Amino acid sequence: MRAQRQISMPSDAPLPRNAPAAHPRHNPALMPGVVIVGAQWGDEGKGKITDLLAERAEVIVRFQGGNNAGHTIVREGKEFKFHLIPSGILHSEKACVIGNGVVLDPAVLLGEIDGLKRRNIDVGNLRISANAHLIMPYHVLLDTAGETKLGKLSIGTTRRGIGPCYADKALRLGIRVQDLLDEKILRTKIRAALEPKQQALRELSVQRRKLRKEAGEEAKAPAEGTAVVPDPRLDLHSMVEEHVNFGHRLEPHIADTAKLCWDALDADKTVIFEGAQATLLDLDHGTYPFVTSSNPIAGAATVGAGVGPTDITEVWGIAKAYATRVGAGPFPTELDDEVGEQLVERGHEFGTTTGRRRRCGWMDLVALRYAVRLNRMDSLAITKLDVLSGIGPLKVAVRYRSKEGAVLESFPYHQSILHSATPEYEELPGFDADIEECREEADLPQAARDYLGFISDFVKVPIRLVGVGPDRDQVVWIGS
Ligand code: GDP
Ligand code: IMO
Ligand code: MG
Repeated sequence: MRAQRQISMPSDAPLPRNAPAAHPRHNPALMPGVVIVGAQWGDEGKGKITDLLAERAEVIVRFQGGNNAGHTIVREGKEFKFHLIPSGILHSEKACVIGNGVVLDPAVLLGEIDGLKRRNIDVGNLRISANAHLIMPYHVLLDTAGETKLGKLSIGTTRRGIGPCYADKALRLGIRVQDLLDEKILRTKIRAALEPKQQALRELSVQRRKLRKEAGEEAKAPAEGTAVVPDPRLDLHSMVEEHVNFGHRLEPHIADTAKLCWDALDADKTVIFEGAQATLLDLDHGTYPFVTSSNPIAGAATVGAGVGPTDITEVWGIAKAYATRVGAGPFPTELDDEVGEQLVERGHEFGTTTGRRRRCGWMDLVALRYAVRLNRMDSLAITKLDVLSGIGPLKVAVRYRSKEGAVLESFPYHQSILHSATPEYEELPGFDADIEECREEADLPQAARDYLGFISDFVKVPIRLVGVGPDRDQVVWIGS
């Protein structure tokens, strides 16, 4: 049974919020609920770290996002990319759960399952929450149409239907995984959800045509997802039929996954909650509106998996040794120069899901400290340190300056201030040695260790793991 956790601090002692040591609420002998979150703008290497930490867990749960995510694992040179399936799936004896907070495109999920089976990976322990919401074909069309309509103001979404699906969930017009198992309910729900979409897509298409006409572009072919209604992809009958079939195939995996997590935690088993996207893409705390439509921060793991707040005993933040962002939105440390190019090339900074070139920049410690606070982070994993070898001196942003000249020590909550903030850097020595073969802290060049030490001291969180290459073995554990 789950042990009753007690706060061991004497009541008059202040909570050492900045202490780099283990959090005092933790009983070090019992750390069953571990959340893994992106500490920057995504693609930090969460997949790889989840796969590694999964060795010590029994259950791995995705708790939010959808197939906007692209999580990569490299094992002995073989690459696996997951969009919906939790990154613990290569440990076939462990339960991998798609939690209720995830939005799930059934065609994409089945494609992933088939892909894994072709590679002889057993997916028998995959469980899907009956309460997870489905990304329907109209969500994908609306995502594209919405982005097209925004034009220069577009968010740069992955166009996978994420925003419209979460919107329908909040509107209570969503279709859930359990609905796939009852054709009558499914038809009724799709009909109710579809009607307003057809109208919205029709209006968007009329608007687009009008704009094109004004611009004298009538002859041009309509952009994908913005015209030609009725669209065969929006046919109720075929949509129901297709989804009933999806239901048949997914049925063996559908379960009460919140109960599964409860039972595992109750038996003192370790559950890893795998976040997708990242803190600065959080719907509430990120760089709104240039964010995703879910909450990738650690607190959301409780809602998205169906566990209680005190079931989370440890939070790991994953950050690259520099920063990247894909899509639009403020990025104070972005580099528009040769160093930025070098980071793209050496780090292979192209999106796992969309193939888009990622914007690159220096490590932003103002933003990282913000992520530490929002997630109440216990440990950090710094990935892709190898990419920095040969690039020097290294810069890290330690504060911003506003347009008016004010010094900003913390991440500004006001959108316009953030948009015009310029970073101020601390310069640190670089290192030239190839570190891909390093496996112990002592193997790393002193300048690399100093760089890590500077980050850890600044954000007051211990770095427990360092990535020195894409393969799962290319890591340096720090401390015990
Ligand atoms: P995620 O979305 O956070 O799981 O990250 P992605 O998989 O989208 O992107 C991370 C990329 O960096 C992938 O191509 C990984 O294989 C790669 N990667 C992860 N860790 C390291 C590392 O330490 N060094 C290098 N060079 N590549 C890494
Ligand atoms: P992983 O889990 C990086 C970005 C998109 C866009 C914004 C909104 O691999 O780290 P959406 O399709 O979610 O409505 O797009 O969020 N975005 C990501 N960027 N990594 C991701 O996932 C992302 N998922 C969404 O580029 O800027
Ligand atoms: Mg990714």
